[in-house]
Amino acid sequence: MNFNKNDANKLLQIIKSRRDVRGNRFTSQAVEEEKLQMILEAAIAAPSVGFSQPWKFVIIKNQQIKDSIYNNFVDENTKAKEIFKDKELYAKLKLEGIKEAPLNIAVLYEETDKEILGMTSMKKMGEYSVVCAIQNMWLMARALNIGLGWVSILNEKKVLASIHAPKNTKLIAYLCLGYVHEFLDTPELQTLEWETKKSIENCSVIL
Ligand SMILES: Cc1cc2nc3c(=O)[nH]c(=O)nc-3n(C[C@H](O)[C@H](O)[C@H](O)COP(=O)(O)O)c2cc1C
Repeated sequence: MNFNKNDANKLLQIIKSRRDVRGNRFTSQAVEEEKLQMILEAAIAAPSVGFSQPWKFVIIKNQQIKDSIYNNFVDENTKAKEIFKDKELYAKLKLEGIKEAPLNIAVLYEETDKEILGMTSMKKMGEYSVVCAIQNMWLMARALNIGLGWVSILNEKKVLASIHAPKNTKLIAYLCLGYVHEFLDTPELQTLEWETKKSIENCSVIL
């Protein structure tokens, strides 16, 4: 199949209007099963080293599990606050939407003893493959007007215990998904002057 310029422009528009969505912007409207399936379909269409497809998705709707993950976040975030100079600004940031988002998904990397083509030298390629699946989910969610937020201020071992994850798995991402009141035009951390946006010239070299 060949795509045209309009298709490419539409894709760029979706990519540029993807945002990390935190708690205060989610509505309580449930995500339809059909839309969740499209997001998962996008995930498993991602590239993976040696076509290993080392991902596992744990769909969390259970309030008790969400509560335990939220408490985990609060503990870790309290420690994180002490690390940064601008503690006042850090304390103002909303950095998750675990309870507000109707749907949480833990994305796991499944380790295997099997040799994987392409992973013989660089051992992290399996985990990077899972990240590719996550980006696909993020973009498909945005195309469906569903917000997604990535929460990484978590104790990995405790998350794995809370979701009864198999022993051979690692946590790559904890995602919060749901419909939103609005999608911001600009990354929040940019608006709040926590970080500045790099230009193409700033992050590329020509050799
Ligand atoms: C690996 C990864 C981990 C992240 N962890 C968090 C997090 O714990 N809390 C949070 O609020 N945002 C998190 N984010 C979202 C980033 O803050 C966000 O992508 C960045 O500020 C740019 O904003 P945008 O995604 O809206 O363009 C994470 C993003 C990535 C890619």
